[in-house]
Amino acid sequence: MRIKDHVAARLQELGAELRRDVSLAEKTSLGIGGTTDELLLGRYDSIPGVMRLLADEKIAHRFLGGGTNVLVADGDLPWIVLHLPHAQPGLRVEGNAAYVDASADLGGMVTFCAKNDLGGMEGLIGVPGSVGGALRMNAGAYGTQIGPHVREVELYRAATGQMETLRGSEIRFDYRHTSFAPDDVMLRVKLELPSKPFKEVLAGIRVCNEKRRSSQPLNQKSAGCIFKNPAGGSAGRMIDELGLKGHRVGDAMVSDRHANFFVNTGHASCSDMLKLVDEVRERVRRAYGVELETEVILWQN
Ligand code: EPU
Repeated sequence: MRIKDHVAARLQELGAELRRDVSLAEKTSLGIGGTTDELLLGRYDSIPGVMRLLADEKIAHRFLGGGTNVLVADGDLPWIVLHLPHAQPGLRVEGNAAYVDASADLGGMVTFCAKNDLGGMEGLIGVPGSVGGALRMNAGAYGTQIGPHVREVELYRAATGQMETLRGSEIRFDYRHTSFAPDDVMLRVKLELPSKPFKEVLAGIRVCNEKRRSSQPLNQKSAGCIFKNPAGGSAGRMIDELGLKGHRVGDAMVSDRHANFFVNTGHASCSDMLKLVDEVRERVRRAYGVELETEVILWQN
C-alpha cells in the first residue's frame, strides 16, 4: 500500500508520522506479517481529521495495538496500519476509578493500579498487549475479565465520524467477544476497581505469573491461544489428546508446552500458520465433532 505524496503532506500537517514499507513481522508477537506503510498518530484530537482524510482518499487502514493477538497476511498488504499516540500513555487513579489510555500496556496498567491499592485485575497480569486490545477482545485469564470493571469507554466511531463515550452498561462483554463495531477505535477507558492493599495484589500477581510460566510457552513467538475454548470444553486439552503437540507446517508448530499455543519457531509465514490451523481444526472436528473458532484475529488481504 502506498500513500501519495500530497496525502502524506496533509497527514504530516495533522501531526501524524508516516513510515513507509514497514514489516509487520516486526510488530507482532507471532513475528509474522507482510509489509505496508505505518501511520503514527501524534494526538488523540487529530484522529477524526486523519480518519476523514483516509476515507476521502479511499485508503484502507487498520489499527494495530500491541500486535499480540493478530495473524497478519504475508506479502505486500493492501491496507496501512495506524497506531494511537503512545508516548507516555495517560494513567490516572481517582478513588476506585482508573482512567487509562487505550495505548497503555495492559500489564503496566495492572501494576499501576496495584501501586495505588486497587486490585481485581491480577489475573490479567501476564496477558500481553494494549489496554485497547484487551477491551476489544474482553481479554481474560485466571478468572478475571476486563469487561466487568469497565464503566466508560471513549472511542472514535467510524460510523458517525465522531468521538463518543459509551457507558459500561451499553457495551456487551462476552467470552473473548464484545459489541464494539469492528471499526470502532478504543481511545480511553474508565475502570472501577476494588480497593486492595498493594501487598495483597502483588501476592495474587505472583500466583498468576507462576501458573502462566508453568503452563505456557512464554519465551516463544506466539499470539497466545489460537482457538477459543468451545462451550464446556478445552481446545488445548483436545489438541493435546490427539497427540498434536510438536506437529508443524514449516516453522509453524503446535507448542509442546501448551497445545492451544501455535508458535513460530523461525521464519513461519502466515500461510504456514493458516495451514496448521486448518489441519488441527479438521483433526478436532473428526475426533470430537467440535468446530473450533479462532481466538486470534486474522488480518487477511
Ligand atoms: N491442557 C492440556 N494440554 C495442554 C493444554 C491444556 O491437557 O496442552 C488442559 C489443562 O491441563 C487444563 C485444561 O486443559 O486442565 C485448560 O488449560 P489451561 O488452564 O491452560 O487453560 P486454557 O483453557 O487452555 C485459558 C485461556 C488462556 C488463559 C488461561 C488461564 C482461552 C482460549 N484460553 O486457557 O488465555 O491464559 O485459560 O486462565 O480462553 C489467550 O486468550 O490467548 C489465552 C492464552
